[in-house]
Amino acid sequence: MSSASAAPAYQGRQITVTEHLLLHQKQSPAATGIFTRLLYDLILAAKLIARSVNKAGLLDVLGGTGEVNVQGENVQKLDEYANRILIHRMQRSGALCCMASEENADIIPIPERFSKGDYILIFDPLDGSSNIDVNINVGTIFSILRRNSPAEQDVVADDVLQPGYKQVAAGYVLYGPSTMLVYTTGQGVHAFTLDPSVGEFLLSHADLRIPEQGKIYSVNEGNTSFWDEATALTVANFKGKANPRGKPYTHRYVGSLVADFHRTLFYGGIFMYPLDYKNPEHPKGKLRLMCEAAPMAFLAEQAGGLATDGTRRILDIVPESLHVRVPLYIGSRKDVEHVMGRLRQ
Ligand code: AHG
Ligand code: MN
Ligand code: MN
Repeated sequence: MSSASAAPAYQGRQITVTEHLLLHQKQSPAATGIFTRLLYDLILAAKLIARSVNKAGLLDVLGGTGEVNVQGENVQKLDEYANRILIHRMQRSGALCCMASEENADIIPIPERFSKGDYILIFDPLDGSSNIDVNINVGTIFSILRRNSPAEQDVVADDVLQPGYKQVAAGYVLYGPSTMLVYTTGQGVHAFTLDPSVGEFLLSHADLRIPEQGKIYSVNEGNTSFWDEATALTVANFKGKANPRGKPYTHRYVGSLVADFHRTLFYGGIFMYPLDYKNPEHPKGKLRLMCEAAPMAFLAEQAGGLATDGTRRILDIVPESLHVRVPLYIGSRKDVEHVMGRLRQ
């Protein structure tokens, strides 16, 4: 079981995410008022997306737009809607010097008419969107960096292409049976549940810890024939006895990273999206480093877990480009170490 307990300061009252942010702001001199404002605006955007996702079956927002995004994937109407909401709201926050989205090929500048700040927001507006038409959990993933170059200069690629350990915050909003916000600013992982009757995210799990070892492995095993032998044997190993559990793991796979990661965070175990040879000339992972793997890796490590591409710590990888993809093994420390040990052989 994961251990999540309310800190003494919160006991006896329901604390909103905004109050939580302000409390942490006091504890950490690095967290400024402008940063709190940035997260506040992001939360508001997420609430607006949650409202549409919850009504998706009733509005004309299901299905595809007929377009293909920069990743070569079909764009769902809700992908586009969530992307628009985030860009519209966040460019007005005054905290950002630029943004980057899974749905946009290039860096998204902040128009001249808005004031700017030092932060960079990178997001996957709707993760798991192929699941939306069948009412399965989707989410929004975010990562926040701070620019390296002086504020008066134009933003350059190096400002954005930073390794994950430089993130100042990361998290996701899961649009599930309840809408949940899970985030870290490097002081543990905290989860909030949206109370629709008051329209606020209330602290439901303070200082989440991922179990050291789990009993669930999660992977799209339909890809087995596209993996190399070491990967196929490593995944198969979770079905045998020579693994950290000493007996077969159980299997779960939603196909939305946010949902699969959320379960892994609470129950433990391992989520894997290995390198595959679907294109034999260019073997690659599927998940994007900057808007998927790195923010989840920051959360995993802050909760006591690990995240690797098989050989490298995800948070140490310097992105070659905005949309670079990586293999991902993430979850309980002992389960991820086991995979790393096997893949190194
Ligand atoms: P997105 O909907 O943002 O394009 O991301 C989909 C990703 C991720 O959510 C999930 O883990 C993975 O795709 C599932 O891929 P497969 O369908 O290949 O299993
Ligand atoms: Mn995604
Ligand atoms: Mn997406």
